Amino acid sequence: MWFNVRVESGDIMNVLVTGGLGFIGSHTCVELLCAGYDVVIMDNLYNAKIEVKDYIEKITGKRVRYYEDDVCDPIAVQKVFDENAIDAVIHFAGYKAVGESVSKPLKYYKNNLISTLVLCEEMKRRGCRNFVFSSSATVYGDPQRIPIDEECRLGPTTNPYGSTKLFIEQILKDLHTSDPDWNIALLRYFNPIGAHESGLIGEEPSGIPNNLMPYIVKVANRELPFLHVFGDDYDTHDGTGVRDYIHVVDLAKGHVCALHKLEHTHVGVGAYNLGTGNGYSVLDIVKAFEKTNQIEIPYQIDPRRPGDIAVCYADPDKAYQELGFKAEKTLEDMVRDSWNFLQKKN
Ligand code: UFG
Repeated sequence: MWFNVRVESGDIMNVLVTGGLGFIGSHTCVELLCAGYDVVIMDNLYNAKIEVKDYIEKITGKRVRYYEDDVCDPIAVQKVFDENAIDAVIHFAGYKAVGESVSKPLKYYKNNLISTLVLCEEMKRRGCRNFVFSSSATVYGDPQRIPIDEECRLGPTTNPYGSTKLFIEQILKDLHTSDPDWNIALLRYFNPIGAHESGLIGEEPSGIPNNLMPYIVKVANRELPFLHVFGDDYDTHDGTGVRDYIHVVDLAKGHVCALHKLEHTHVGVGAYNLGTGNGYSVLDIVKAFEKTNQIEIPYQIDPRRPGDIAVCYADPDKAYQELGFKAEKTLEDMVRDSWNFLQKKN
């Protein structure tokens, strides 16, 4: 099980984490350090704050090496590999705003694809072939069936951001075909929420949030007047959209499980859903937040958001069977920790 994961064979010691100061990246760095790995972070602070490095070190009592650089810059990437014996890479760095990707597709394709190509070229040059990619359930587009298993049809995606994830998965599959020594885990995340229980690290979107939980915490904090619920006429138990929300600490532990798997087994290219298998509606989340935190969340029903699907939740069995990963935290943990982070930050 994930909580017993430790470095045993010594095959993978040094892990390069791109985007390691972001929401999922920072929680993953914490779990990697706790599991005994050494961590090197590359992050250009596009969507992260430098203090997060100190918080990672405070939580774990360990040091990380940090490079404030862009992964699209081949010279910067070379330098990181020159100065560190990197055994594996976990690649989070990338743009992730769905709406912006529709208005600025070139920005998304350029950044997300080039950073991956630069990294893979450098890894190839160095003979480092253990790669964990931060993918997304968005690669399934409008899902063929629910719960979504890894054999479900991929695409068509519903926005350029999703296309970058799907294209990168394909690039990595082609890379493996060309050289079967590559050992690649494609981790398809469902909806990460929550924060580290210390309240030191969490999700801090700039501006008005697009995603549900960051929006709810701003309403709870009276920074925004009410939540817009996008549609109550879906074919779900209360008419609002259903998603598979997973605690970010569980998700982070999924990366340690994946790395451990790559360390001990040659998987070639393996795709794994990281979700809980539970579907909760928008109003389920609102009610759980209100009950756990004793704060009212005013909301208004608005029209559906273009591009949204009704229901999306994972079949998490493959990750359990092959990686030994199982999400353990409850919805109550998720809504409590999301709110705790915002309060501690204020
Ligand atoms: N929602 C609202 N009001 C809001 C925000 C969201 O009602 O202000 C609803 C949405 O309509 C949806 C649910 O809350 O039903 C979740 O929406 P999010 O924006 O939080 O998340 P999505 O499921 O749309 O997208 C997330 C990630 C994407 C990723 C996708 C994978 O943000 O990066 O999951 O399936 F691609």
